[in-house]
Amino acid sequence: MGMQVAFTDYGARIVSVLVPDKAGNLRDVVLGFNSIQEYLQADEQYHGATIGRFANRIANGHFHLDDEKYTLQQNNGSNCLHGGPTGFHAKVWDRRTSFKKKIDFCYVSPDGEGGFPGNLKVTVSYELTEDNEIVIKYKAETDKKTVINLTNHAYFNLDGEGQGDVLSHILQLPSDHFLPIDENQIPLDRETPVDGTVFDFRLPKKIVEDINKDEEQLRRGNGYDHTLVNHQPISQVAASAYSPDSGIRLEVFTTEPGIQLYTGNFLSGKDIGKSGRKYASRSAFCFETQHYPDSPNHLQFPSVILEPSQVFESETIYKFSVKKLP
Ligand code: GLA
Repeated sequence: MGMQVAFTDYGARIVSVLVPDKAGNLRDVVLGFNSIQEYLQADEQYHGATIGRFANRIANGHFHLDDEKYTLQQNNGSNCLHGGPTGFHAKVWDRRTSFKKKIDFCYVSPDGEGGFPGNLKVTVSYELTEDNEIVIKYKAETDKKTVINLTNHAYFNLDGEGQGDVLSHILQLPSDHFLPIDENQIPLDRETPVDGTVFDFRLPKKIVEDINKDEEQLRRGNGYDHTLVNHQPISQVAASAYSPDSGIRLEVFTTEPGIQLYTGNFLSGKDIGKSGRKYASRSAFCFETQHYPDSPNHLQFPSVILEPSQVFESETIYKFSVKKLP
């Protein structure tokens, strides 16, 4: 049986992803709401959304480009998070083409929007394949030198949205380095080996195994909210998650150098989801494929600069399957 995906042009969001489980029943594995009002009033604003212009944090809401200082809106303590309060998640995108299995969303962000330089033309295209994959392609062009970091913020629960926490999900990521963070969740300058840390997912590991350990990095993120460094080419799995209960497995493939593993630590329980259940802390996880947080202020990180002469392109695939048990 094939999967089904639904979108909205508000934030170019994924609204639902119906995937067959091991019994052949469809489960909706992405958190979200039934009405646009609920998206507008939600406590958590990023459900399923396209995030930009700059996914994750920019420290103190400013950065320099060619000696010019740019000031952004602060919406996460002193940080600018996910492009600021009126980032791409809060825009109504144009739906330009719509085939049965493909949808393109376009948005033109005017020069100076959110404090970022350049008129930026962005296209996010979603395609559903016969192999139960959602292929997401991002493309952008600017008329002035700028910075860019795009991701999707789908919250996954492979038992189905509203079906309790994800602590017994089993994750596997080949990453051998992660980015430690400071008290404001800004990455420190160094990529750190995962060996001997709670960030070692090179062998399959349940989320619950280490998440409640008394460990400084976990305290700073209130759980996992960290970038794992990705060196896999797009043909190789960069991250995977599996729920033994439903049998559903998610595999992620990406051109991006980082994956933000976020275990929904700040979900407050205030939002009531599609099936009438509360979205509490750790009731979902995200694999946000992206460049490193705060890159404009860390020149040794992979570059997030986009020049007018360049075309920004990035691709991420979320692939679903049912894992056959031995
Ligand atoms: C990202 C961040 C988290 C949190 C969520 C949105 O995953 O890293 O800290 O802000 O987005 O709630």
